[in-house]
Amino acid sequence: MQTYYITTPIYYINAQPHIGHSYTSIIADILARFRRFQGNKVFFLTGTDEHGQKIQRAAEEQGCSPQEFADDMVASFKKMGEALHISNDDFIRTTEERHTKTVQKLFSLIKENNDIYKGLYTGLYCVPCESFWSQTQLEEKKYCPDCSREVEELSEETYFFRLSKYAPIIQKHIKENPSFCEPEWKRNEILARLEEGVNDLSVSRTTFRWGIPVPHDDDHVIYVWFDALINYLSGINYFDENSPCQPLWPADLHLIGKEIAWFHAVIWPCMLMSAGIPLPQKVFSHGWLTIGGEKMSKSLGNSIDPFVITEKFTTDALRYYLSSQINFGSDGDYSEEKLVQKYNADLANCIGNLLNRTVSMIKKYFNCSLPRIEIEDNACQTLITSSRQLSKKIEESYHTLSLHEISKAINEVADASNSFIVQKEPWKVAKTDNEEYLQQIMLTLLYAIAEITLNLYPLIPTSAQKMWEILGFEDRLAESTYNRLQEKYINQQKWKVVPGEIPFPRLEL
Ligand code: MSP
Repeated sequence: MQTYYITTPIYYINAQPHIGHSYTSIIADILARFRRFQGNKVFFLTGTDEHGQKIQRAAEEQGCSPQEFADDMVASFKKMGEALHISNDDFIRTTEERHTKTVQKLFSLIKENNDIYKGLYTGLYCVPCESFWSQTQLEEKKYCPDCSREVEELSEETYFFRLSKYAPIIQKHIKENPSFCEPEWKRNEILARLEEGVNDLSVSRTTFRWGIPVPHDDDHVIYVWFDALINYLSGINYFDENSPCQPLWPADLHLIGKEIAWFHAVIWPCMLMSAGIPLPQKVFSHGWLTIGGEKMSKSLGNSIDPFVITEKFTTDALRYYLSSQINFGSDGDYSEEKLVQKYNADLANCIGNLLNRTVSMIKKYFNCSLPRIEIEDNACQTLITSSRQLSKKIEESYHTLSLHEISKAINEVADASNSFIVQKEPWKVAKTDNEEYLQQIMLTLLYAIAEITLNLYPLIPTSAQKMWEILGFEDRLAESTYNRLQEKYINQQKWKVVPGEIPFPRLEL
């Protein structure tokens, strides 16, 4: 069985989750569900990034220990996953022992390879981003290019990682394997930065304690990014030969936001190369959710609470909007008006209406039950063919991560099905004695809706499940596969629809 290992970044826990975090998790969940539905053995990892000066300071402000602070905040991130119906297979916390051990092991491996050495670091550091910057990278010489906050000067004894040794190798790798770093604009940006030359990276700190100690040198804690990236190995217990997850490496996809691509597409693979570990297949950077063109973030005070949105509009409404409205890979402006509009147009009006009309007619004309018959009518055959081609078309969009194309393709089939009803006017056919023709029309619609439902599943799992039940099936979509369910509906001798509440009530602002 083909495996698929997908990860989200691990979230900083200094503030409550907002829908920027939800975006990464939702997209990763859609990809994970799609792969499982394809029959792949999927491992989907998410988690929390709990070390560093930022967390230590946040805990101090609250008058608690960093661990207490972390335990409290992690609960919110886990709750966010539940509220969004995220189907992760594990949740890694960087304060777990399995993580500490893995980080220390990797650090030691790299050091044994002579790629970590001690030196003195003087530099400009942004605490909220946990990043060092060179003078030339800074805005107006003192503000962080990522978050625009003032940087601090730090001077300390540190361990360095020989990033400069591996930079030319990763540069070559990216050039020769363009699919390793996507989308293209991000790849070009990274290649341009590599072209400028790369210094060795400071990977330990002595000025605070909240981190993983450097092996055999307790004065130092490991730099939080060096620590955090290793979650992708500790989450599958990589160094444990008996772990059933170990063979999942290399990861198929690290899904990340665009601001952390350098860490994932350059620093991380260089660390792996030094330790002799294979590189992940792909690092894909998505854009930001913006509000009026500005990145949504705690510091700007414009963040939107995912719990409020899912309560107000349902989880599937948020999932559908984020996966369909934003050109995946680019930034997208978030707005409730657009969420409601998109949901009402596609799900309530187009797909919900189609399901409602079809089921009502089958109830009225056939008492909910329709035997399988040969479909001879040309228009019926055309609609069936196009609906059965849907999954192939969508598969392509999943492979190229053109996620916004998916709902578009599904809605095209739903539109065609609604037009088919208008064109066939089944209510008129019902008044003739051509019952077989009416059966063909209704069966065709059921076939189309079954394909729409199965293809909607990764995007909006709860609603798709309800649709599947209205179509008369009891299977749990999350526990089955597309092929198995398609075969089932095609071959069943009799459809028995179960009229129920249509899962797409119109939303109001
Ligand atoms: N802890 C690091 C990641 C370490 S991974 C080894 C981190 N955490 S984060 O909480 O700041 O961000 C986590 C993810 O949320 C990133 O993919 C980031 O891009 C995403 N988002 C945070 N705000 C966002 C938006 N406003 N819009 C879209 N995604 C954004 O970075």
